[in-house]
Amino acid sequence: MTALLLRGSALRGGRVLLRDLDLAVAAGQWTCLLGPSGVGKTTILRLCAGLANGVEWRGRLVTPGPGQVALMAQDDLLLPWLSARDNVALGARLRGVPPDLAQADRLLARVGLAGRAGHKPAALSGGERQRVALARTLMEDRPVILLDEPFSALDAGTRARMQDLAAELLARRTVLMVTHDPAEAARLGEAIHILTGAGAERIVPPAGPIPRAVEDPGLLRVQAALLARLRAGVPCAA
Ligand SMILES: Nc1ncnc2c1ncn2[C@@H]1O[C@H](COP(=O)(O)OP(=O)(O)O)[C@@H](O)[C@H]1O
Ligand SMILES: [Mg+2]
Repeated sequence: MTALLLRGSALRGGRVLLRDLDLAVAAGQWTCLLGPSGVGKTTILRLCAGLANGVEWRGRLVTPGPGQVALMAQDDLLLPWLSARDNVALGARLRGVPPDLAQADRLLARVGLAGRAGHKPAALSGGERQRVALARTLMEDRPVILLDEPFSALDAGTRARMQDLAAELLARRTVLMVTHDPAEAARLGEAIHILTGAGAERIVPPAGPIPRAVEDPGLLRVQAALLARLRAGVPCAA
């Protein structure tokens, strides 16, 4: 079943941002989206979340209904005057319902920040802030999750642990993740697309369930193929 469908073109102020895109995201699995900076990956996530202000869509756009989607933006968007715990619980407050602070603390512990719950964002490192933003996204508990470079600020060890955690907690959800990291896409992608100015190209992912072992030979082959295509700048024949 298709959870998200973008078939058409996106324009901003009359200028084409995405031309003749045909991107279908299957329900209940992880889809990874790679591509050079500025090609329109964040725009795609914002269109899926209904947040693409100033962007005109011409064509078919199938997105989940209100309340079905959580977006982890590329910037952490933490409120500087709130503690990490209150930032994680922000969604409930914005909806005017009592926040589940115990669940916020559990998720902070899962992302390795049990000792930081009372800290304000200014007292956290970039990687810690990104993990608070991840916990806030997981807190939303939605069927469709859009992740915009969610692990980009993390060191390699923490990144691998957060990939494992996200794969565990978001199993069987519909996840669309933007990443610049071919290894990450090969580890987590059950579908993989490279976005270029010529549209989205589908890459066959490695076999096996996610998160895949980093030393898996099939994963390493796909990782190398992805890097070669990104390096070439344009899709080439396999
Ligand atoms: N708020 C904005 N106003 C005008 N142009 C924008 C805005 N946000 C993004 N763009 C432009 O839209 C294009 C796609 O941006 P984006 O979707 O953020 O790309 P990506 O996430 O792939 O790096 C880029 O050329 C970018 O400069
Ligand atoms: Mg982006």
